[in-house]
Amino acid sequence: MRKKIVAGNWKMNMELSEGVAFATAINSYFKDHPLKDKEVILCTPFIHLGTVSSLLTVKGLTAGAQNCNDHKSGAFTGEISAVMIRSTGAASVIIGHSERRSYYGEDDTLLAAKTVEALRNGLRVIFCCGEVLPEREKNNHFEVVRRQLDKGLFTLPVEEFRKCVIAYEPVWAIGTGVTATPNQAQEMHHFIRDIIKNQYGPDVASDTTILYGGSCKASNAAELFANPDVDGGLIGGASLAKDEFCSIVNAL
Ligand code: PGA
Repeated sequence: MRKKIVAGNWKMNMELSEGVAFATAINSYFKDHPLKDKEVILCTPFIHLGTVSSLLTVKGLTAGAQNCNDHKSGAFTGEISAVMIRSTGAASVIIGHSERRSYYGEDDTLLAAKTVEALRNGLRVIFCCGEVLPEREKNNHFEVVRRQLDKGLFTLPVEEFRKCVIAYEPVWAIGTGVTATPNQAQEMHHFIRDIIKNQYGPDVASDTTILYGGSCKASNAAELFANPDVDGGLIGGASLAKDEFCSIVNAL
């Protein structure tokens, strides 16, 4: 059975004290409302990871990073390695977010290397894929997502691939208030599961968690999550407000 997951992507928000207060509030909410078989991951900026990881005490609630370097250690000023992330107690890392791809020029080859390094250090990878608007308008969105997964993820041996979660995030829906319709989300998630099936077989395909991301909020989460191939969400803006975020988790 695949895991149901809601991951919050705080992006570059919250000072240390704000992040600690926020994570504490989330932790106490889920202490009172157990997650049961669901998982919640708070993907914080690096500066929060150690503190937030150690204050999360609820089963199913963990911290994650938003990026990592593809090298183990060394002279890479300003960078953070997967082994460093793991040492904070964080369990996951987002790789290939569209903001990393577009603002920092991270290409498929680099993302494949980051993924390998993260997995080697025991992190679960949340691998993002998704098309930009002109690609959807030209009806190229399936090919774009197929290429991103082929090059970034499908080079992994099956036992490593099994440690990854995929997040489909149409770039035109990220931070724009425009959400993919439930049908658009389901159609792409079904396509992704199908290409996983071709690559790794039906059992792996059926066990892979595929999250939707892009302007997902409390008011639309239930209809997105109701789709058979949507196993949860990667939440940006709406992960920064406690009630909103907890409602999204409850919608799952
Ligand atoms: P959004 O961001 O929910 O603010 O659209 C999602 C994401 O970038 O992961």
